[in-house]
Amino acid sequence: MSIYRVTLLPSQHQYQSSSKQSLLRAGLESGLNMIYGCDGGNCGKCLVRLVSGTTERLRHSDFVLSQSQKDRQQLLSCCHAASSDVVMEAVEIDSVSEIAEQTIDTRVYRMDRLSESVMSVVLKTPRGQPLSFLAGQYVTLSMNGSLQRNKSIASCPCDGMHLEVHVKAREHDPFSEYVFKRLKKNERVQINGPHGEFVLDDASDRPLLLIAFDSGFSSIKSLIEHAIALEKNQPIKLYWMMSAGNQPYLENYCRSIVHALDNFSFQTEFAQDRSPATMTQLLEKIVLQEAAVTQSDVYLTLPEELRELAQDILIQAGVQPQHWKIDTIQAI
Ligand code: FES
Repeated sequence: MSIYRVTLLPSQHQYQSSSKQSLLRAGLESGLNMIYGCDGGNCGKCLVRLVSGTTERLRHSDFVLSQSQKDRQQLLSCCHAASSDVVMEAVEIDSVSEIAEQTIDTRVYRMDRLSESVMSVVLKTPRGQPLSFLAGQYVTLSMNGSLQRNKSIASCPCDGMHLEVHVKAREHDPFSEYVFKRLKKNERVQINGPHGEFVLDDASDRPLLLIAFDSGFSSIKSLIEHAIALEKNQPIKLYWMMSAGNQPYLENYCRSIVHALDNFSFQTEFAQDRSPATMTQLLEKIVLQEAAVTQSDVYLTLPEELRELAQDILIQAGVQPQHWKIDTIQAI
């Protein structure tokens, strides 16, 4: 198996691609937001133009290119692999508005209890119908007829066929109770999305300060995996704020990243209760102890009732509004 360098124009983004892997898949796994649809040769959305280098067809495509497309050296990046270093023109997603809303019937692929109170559910889309999304976005899940809930996607956009969401156990919450007591493997779950603007600013080289709260770790996890895929070199600091009675349910996962990456650090902070006064104190402590906070991009997931509080603290700390993003949908 040979490894080649692929350069995208006009962005000049580069990634490594093997002779056994499609140009599209290698780009997605490198954290690039390349436009695609089916990942199976049917839709034509992954069309790119070869500027230099050579490729080999990996698989058959049902989508038929016109003669003029072939004359312009256009090809489907999901069906071709590099056979030399390659330069190609490719459209990349710059903003969430460029991603079409999709409704997909998925199936429950696996369920894992991450702790006493948090369940990971992995949904699998039909072949040829992956969900295109950006790290940090959420989908609306519909199950068992009428149960609906917005959930952040915890997994990496590089795999649009397997979508991980986290559900917290809550008494008297029909959605949560259904997931914990009745949801079965293979059961149909409809998703609609992606939604939300809590996405990583790929172009920024500023340090990342990530702050998660209780079970609101899903979107932060997706951001971390995206930053790792992009091989970001800037410092990434993760704080996980836990209110009384809660534990960071993916602590080992966070510790494993600390061991694997020199630029990643992780710290848990525990609060005695969830009162605004206590949360203010804790958030202030986190933000104010970060010497580089004004040079950082700050991403927070918090309950909606803490949004204004967090904004006040960031303003006091001197962080400009364009350098923070707050995700509050995990509070449900
Ligand atoms: S993604 Fe649909 S043809 Fe390549």
